[in-house]
Amino acid sequence: MEHERIIQTQNLSKFYGPHMALENLNLDIKKGATGLLGPNGAGKSTFLKTILGLIQATSGDGTVLGHDIRTEGAAIRSRIGYMPEYDALNPEMDAINQVRYSGELLGMNPIVALQRAHASLQYVGLGEQRYREIKSFSTGMKQATKLACAIIHDPELIIADEPSNGLDATAREFMITTLINTVKQGDRSVLMASHLMDDVERVCDDIVLLHKGKLAAQGRIEDLKAIDREIEIHVWGGASKLEAAMIQQGMKVRREGRVMRIAHDSDELTSNILRCAAKVGAQIRRMHEYEASLEDLFLVIMENLGYEVKTSEDLFKHPIHARKVDAPGHMGGGAS
Ligand SMILES: Nc1ncnc2c1ncn2[C@@H]1O[C@H](COP(=O)(O)OP(=O)(O)O)[C@@H](O)[C@H]1O
Ligand SMILES: [Mg+2]
Repeated sequence: MEHERIIQTQNLSKFYGPHMALENLNLDIKKGATGLLGPNGAGKSTFLKTILGLIQATSGDGTVLGHDIRTEGAAIRSRIGYMPEYDALNPEMDAINQVRYSGELLGMNPIVALQRAHASLQYVGLGEQRYREIKSFSTGMKQATKLACAIIHDPELIIADEPSNGLDATAREFMITTLINTVKQGDRSVLMASHLMDDVERVCDDIVLLHKGKLAAQGRIEDLKAIDREIEIHVWGGASKLEAAMIQQGMKVRREGRVMRIAHDSDELTSNILRCAAKVGAQIRRMHEYEASLEDLFLVIMENLGYEVKTSEDLFKHPIHARKVDAPGHMGGGAS
């Protein structure tokens, strides 16, 4: 069912001592693929561990596939596949035994676990390398082994913490394609924490954006992008004059040479742009709706929250200090 909810939380908070890592999160995650985004330290890994019952919430409640995160962690972990952020593998083991072992930890009988380990390693592209020791593996192969461990019991929900982090282009492409196939062909759900916008955009339809432990935005990527619509124009002669005229009319213009993008905040925008061009004698060669990327959306949300950020990369490299923290209501936050 399209709107089936698989994860819900109510006022979920987590403190590490006095440090607040998650604050009053009210989340509603549906079947399908959801990206958990946010800068370093936003609380992504803490959130995942809390909903898996691996760490106790300080306050609030939640369910995963109908199970209570406070009391039914073991049931949750047996029904989902968890791919942790950091190395959870034994370097001395060969891949097949590592994956088989993770099945046995879930209570599978050794024969079934071994059969499934072969199938899982094949699925993640390590069929040929399954008898090699993990210490000889590249980062990409280790990530693939972690995914094989997570899917050994064919779970309906896979929770992956930074699955494509640190991978080279080929391994990253393979990981992303595997996750896409798992959702599209396998009809499974994926919740992936990531700071790589492109990967999230390829795999996921929905996002949850955390910042400093708070919810900054949640919803369908397509819907969230509507807050950031722009018209792009390519101008031949008189670009500077046109830019000045549009700004004078109160339009929000971003310009790079002959290409300008104007915030699409009124139905009359295109005719207003054409009127300005006619007045100053500028030639518009192309005009179209600009398709924002998730990266653009992220920057707009951050700006709306009161942060000055140039690129998401900046933000992830240098976590910024809180000024204004609550997102506007229409973006899923608590502020008006
Ligand atoms: N075990 C821990 N003890 C104390 N503080 C922690 C612990 N784990 C995480 N934190 C802190 O909680 C915040 C959220 O961390 P984390 O969930 O790892 O964020 P993310 O995965 O988004 O990078 C950070 O400020 C981090 O330093
Ligand atoms: Mg993390």
